[in-house]
Amino acid sequence: MSEERTSVGRAEACANIALAKYWGKSARGNNLTAVPSLSLTLDALRTRTEVAFDTAWTADRVELNGEDIYGPGLDRVTAMLERFRALRGEARHARVVSVNNFPTAAGLASSASGFAALAVAIQSALGLSFTRGALSSQARQGSASAGRSLFGGFAELLAHTDEASPVAPVHHWDVAMVVAVIEAGKKAVASTGGMIHTAATSSYYPAWLETAPPLFEDVKQGVLNRDFERVARGMEHSTRLMHATMLTSVPPVLYLRGPTVELMHAIAARRAAGHAEAYTMDAGPNVKVLTLTEHLEQTVEFLGRFGGVTRLVICRPGPGARRLGIEGSLADARPLGEEA
Ligand code: PMV
Repeated sequence: MSEERTSVGRAEACANIALAKYWGKSARGNNLTAVPSLSLTLDALRTRTEVAFDTAWTADRVELNGEDIYGPGLDRVTAMLERFRALRGEARHARVVSVNNFPTAAGLASSASGFAALAVAIQSALGLSFTRGALSSQARQGSASAGRSLFGGFAELLAHTDEASPVAPVHHWDVAMVVAVIEAGKKAVASTGGMIHTAATSSYYPAWLETAPPLFEDVKQGVLNRDFERVARGMEHSTRLMHATMLTSVPPVLYLRGPTVELMHAIAARRAAGHAEAYTMDAGPNVKVLTLTEHLEQTVEFLGRFGGVTRLVICRPGPGARRLGIEGSLADARPLGEEA
């Protein structure tokens, strides 16, 4: 057990968006995934988290974007704190303060950046030195996609696998992803519940389990070869298969809105006309458009005047989760592994 009364750790992590999607939990439990996935970490969608442990506190307390959280949200954070406390023989309770620079729980992968930042901040506060893989495992147990946010650039999380791993670094490929926000509100169906419901009720779910792995391989080869057309086709197909599985569950899990579908049509037409653009959507109506940096200006111009799009967030490949110094401001970022 720690002898200090108080210890503090800070971290920052970027969200990631899957180019080859995961949807569904492994029968092996422990929040493992049923299918492999591959993602791009995004520099503009960030969570910063501070964790403090103190002997004076009698319960864990969690604040997200200036508001205390309770219920299932608090339970997920406490579960991660408990896992670390058990590893370390730690008895102190914690205060967690976390800030997202983008809408929370709107299918913008806030849980990915959130749990990645939380894992790094806890280990920093407790003076532990886990490998990035071990931190990825901790983050994944909080939210499976969070395991991928430990890594910068392109990362994969294989099916039934504890830790995500890097596929290609930040500078591998000059791509950008533009988030076209259609609705910034909280999603009606949380992803974990949505997945369990889909697996239990969609007759398409077995087909999804069969088609996702070869599609993941295809997208991965496309990324490694910087083959935009191959990634575009694979990512869109993965997206449609995932959403088809969701919306054939009973009752349906339907995240897409009118403007989402209009954008799917428009992007298909634009790519056929030679624009390097491809769409993907997660557990929400917002559309993330993958493009090449050299084409970014045209993509932003097109999305900026598209009906139903309320805001754009321009993202480039981002770094893996890292600890922040505890003196000075939260902007004082240090690479993971360096002493704060
Ligand atoms: O991290 P979770 O368990 O909330 O799942 C998110 C899953 C998707 O974002 C819809 C797809 C993915 O692979 O990130």
